[in-house]
Amino acid sequence: MRRRLMLAMMGFTVVVLLVQNIPFAFYLTGVERERVVTTLERDAFVLAGRLEDALSKGTAAGDKTAVATVAAYSAASGARVVVVDEEGVAVSTSDADQSRVGASYLSRPEIAAALQGRIVSGERHSNTLGITMLYVAVPVLSGSTTEGAVRLSYPSQEFADAAARQVWGLIAVAGVTVLLAGVVAAVFASGISRRLRLLQAATEQLAAGELATRAEERAGVPEVRSLARTFNSMAERLAALIDLQRAFASDVSHQLRTPLTALRLRLDAARDLVDTDPVGATERLAAADAELDRLGTVIDGLLALSRAEAEPAGVHDVARIAQERVEQWLPLAQEADVAVRYQGPDSAPAVAVETAVEQIIDNYIDNALGVSPPGSTVTVLVEASDRVVVHVLDEGPGLGEAERGRAFERFWRGSPSGGGSGLGLAIVAQLAAASGGTARLEPREGGGLDASAAFLAAPERSGSG
Ligand SMILES: Nc1ncnc2c1ncn2[C@@H]1O[C@H](COP(=O)(O)OP(=O)(O)O)[C@@H](O)[C@H]1O
Ligand SMILES: [Mg+2]
Repeated sequence: MRRRLMLAMMGFTVVVLLVQNIPFAFYLTGVERERVVTTLERDAFVLAGRLEDALSKGTAAGDKTAVATVAAYSAASGARVVVVDEEGVAVSTSDADQSRVGASYLSRPEIAAALQGRIVSGERHSNTLGITMLYVAVPVLSGSTTEGAVRLSYPSQEFADAAARQVWGLIAVAGVTVLLAGVVAAVFASGISRRLRLLQAATEQLAAGELATRAEERAGVPEVRSLARTFNSMAERLAALIDLQRAFASDVSHQLRTPLTALRLRLDAARDLVDTDPVGATERLAAADAELDRLGTVIDGLLALSRAEAEPAGVHDVARIAQERVEQWLPLAQEADVAVRYQGPDSAPAVAVETAVEQIIDNYIDNALGVSPPGSTVTVLVEASDRVVVHVLDEGPGLGEAERGRAFERFWRGSPSGGGSGLGLAIVAQLAAASGGTARLEPREGGGLDASAAFLAAPERSGSG
C-alpha cells in the first residue's frame, strides 16, 4: 500500500510536471532567441550610427576608428560583424584576417534587403564557418539615403545553450519536486497503513471474542477515524446484543428449571405413593400435569418471543380484529361471570407485524380476565386518529407504579402462583415495538388497569389477518 501510493504520487507529479514544463521549455527557448535578436538589432543600429560618417565620406575602408569600433564590439559581444557600403562591398569585418574586405556581399539576401532600407533577421547555416548563425542586418542611413549596411551574426549554439541551461534548471527543480512528492506520499501512507493495521488487530481481537475491544477514534486521517468510529459502534452493538442473548438464555434456563424440578418432585412423590396411597398418587400426577401445562405455556411464549421480530409488517384493521377477539373470549368470560364488550369504530387500519394485534389483545384480555372479579366488565376500546390505540380496561386491583414498570420484563409475575409464564407482556412489548408502535400500562380511573398498544394509522384500508 505504501509503495503503491508512493509510486502513484510520484507518477502523478511527473505527468503534471511534463504537461507544465514541456511547453514552458519551448517558450523559454523562443524567448531567449527573441532576446538575442533584439539585442543584436539594437547593437547593429548603434554600430550603424557610429559608422554613418565614415561610410558617407567613403573612407570607412581605411578609417582606423571604424575598424577599431567593429573589432571592439565583436570582441565584447562574440558576434561577427560585416559592414558593407551602398554597393554591397565589404568595408570592414570583425574577422582576424581582413581578406573579405573588398569582397561583394550583394549575393547575401539579408545584405541586399538591408541596402534597400529593411531590417532583416533570421538563422542560416554559414558555409564559411560551418555552423548555424543567427543574423541581423540593418541599413546605415544618413537622412533618407542608404549609405551601407551592418550585419551581425551570432552562433545559434550560444543562445541554444543558454536556453538549455534554463531548461536543465527546470528539470532539476522538477526532479526535486517528484522526490518530495514520493517522500510525502510515503510518510502519509505509512501513517494510514499503521492505523489500518491497528484497526485490523482490533477486528481480530473482537472476532476472537474480546468484546471490550475498541479502536482509537482520535488519531489518523478523517477517513480512518470515521472507520474507527463505525468499528466501535458496531462493537458496542455486538456486545449489547450478546449480553442480551446471554441474559435471555440464563433467564430461560432458570425459568425452565423451576417447573422441571417441581415436576420431578411430584412424579417422585406419585411413585412412592402409587402402592400405598393410590388416591394421593393420582393427586400428585394431576399436579404434575398442571406443571407440564405451565411448561408448555412457557415454551410457547418463548417461541412467540423469538418469532415476534421475524414477521413482516403490513396493514391490519385493529377495530375489526378487536371485535373478533371479543367474540372469541365471550364464552370463557361468561364462565367467570365477567362481561366483555367492544367500544370503538368499525374499522381502524394500522401498521403492524402479522398477528401482532391479535396476540397483544389476547394477552391483555387473558390478564384482565385473570384479575376481574365476578360481575365486572372488561372493555376493549379502540381509538383512531393519526395513531390507532387499542385499550383493554378491567375493574381488577390494578398495578402499582413500580410493578407497572417491571411488568413488561420477561418472566416477571405479580404473584408466583397461577399458571402464567410471565412472558405475556414481554411478548406484547416486543410485538408492539416490531410493529413500530408502543405498549403501555396505566392505572384506570376508578380502579383497574388500562393496558394499551398504539400503532401507526395506515392511510387506507386493506385486508387484515
Ligand atoms: N390487568 C392486570 N391487572 C393486574 N395485574 C396485571 C394485569 N396484567 C398483568 N398483570 C401482572 O403482570 C404480570 C405479568 O403479566 P404477563 O407478562 O402477562 O405474565 P403472566 O400473565 O403469565 O403472569 C402478571 O403476573 C400480573 O401480576
Ligand atoms: Mg399474561
